[in-house]
Amino acid sequence: KQPDAGGDTMTLLKVDNSLYPPFSADVINGLTSLEIREDDIIICAYPKAGTHWVWEISRCLLAGTTTLPLVEKDNNMIECVPSATLDALPSPRILNTHLTFDQLPAEIRQKRCQIIYINRNPKDLAVSCYHHHRKLTDFYQYEGSWENFLPLFMDGKLDYGSWFAYVTDWERVVRENPGLPIHVMAYEDLKQDPVQQIAGLGKFLGQEVSEQFATSVADKCSFVNMKSRKGQFETGSDGEPIMYRKGEVGDWTNWFTVLQNEAMDGYLRQHLAESSLKFKYTL
Ligand code: A3P
Repeated sequence: KQPDAGGDTMTLLKVDNSLYPPFSADVINGLTSLEIREDDIIICAYPKAGTHWVWEISRCLLAGTTTLPLVEKDNNMIECVPSATLDALPSPRILNTHLTFDQLPAEIRQKRCQIIYINRNPKDLAVSCYHHHRKLTDFYQYEGSWENFLPLFMDGKLDYGSWFAYVTDWERVVRENPGLPIHVMAYEDLKQDPVQQIAGLGKFLGQEVSEQFATSVADKCSFVNMKSRKGQFETGSDGEPIMYRKGEVGDWTNWFTVLQNEAMDGYLRQHLAESSLKFKYTL
């Protein structure tokens, strides 16, 4: 049980001093034996950075069509789904993860799997994370306030630990491994110019696409379409979709007080002092 600043508790799983969602310790412990395939594509992001969105886009790009059968729930999270389930997925698999590069099976590096890494500005991400923890009541059993959640986020006392540590670690991995196929994306860029971003992702995945096809993927995977197609299958305690809430850049302005914003800016200055990461907070 992890208490927030107001004393409300959140249920998390702790394995080897790292915090995870309260799924299965067996899956985390079994990670090293997960069989990785050379054509696996791994989507890496801190929670709530747009994993489901990019997964759906990648699926369309690989298949070369936007008329794929609906997958109700993306049951493909490396650290949450038993390896037997992942083993049963047909190739090429698109697997999601919120783990750091070093926590992932070493075969991903050895087999030079393609990695898509997504960043999102930490203010919108924190707000999204808050709702995620509140909506998944069965897992997190969390009913805290936004005011008390924000310090948890900034202190890295959430599942997957510190956002700052996560993004700067991935920044290091990208810098130190120029030979590895890692495609870096930003939620805000995808929102601002989906067609260009989708075409760029297609190129990385070896699927050069026409502007017309990229436009149809953007439309199929728009927030409104994904929410109406998939949102009904995973709902939270409020009956609303868990993975499709607002889908905007800048919703943080509806949540952060002036003081909270100053505190966050201070944290960013301190924690990202050595980093060259830049984030867009509005479009
Ligand atoms: P919000 O809570 O800000 O709405 P993840 O898939 O990594 O869990 O990220 C979830 C966040 O991405 C949520 O953010 C969700 O609404 C947003 N999202 C999901 N699908 C999206 C889409 N098609 N377009 C834009 N945002 C999307």
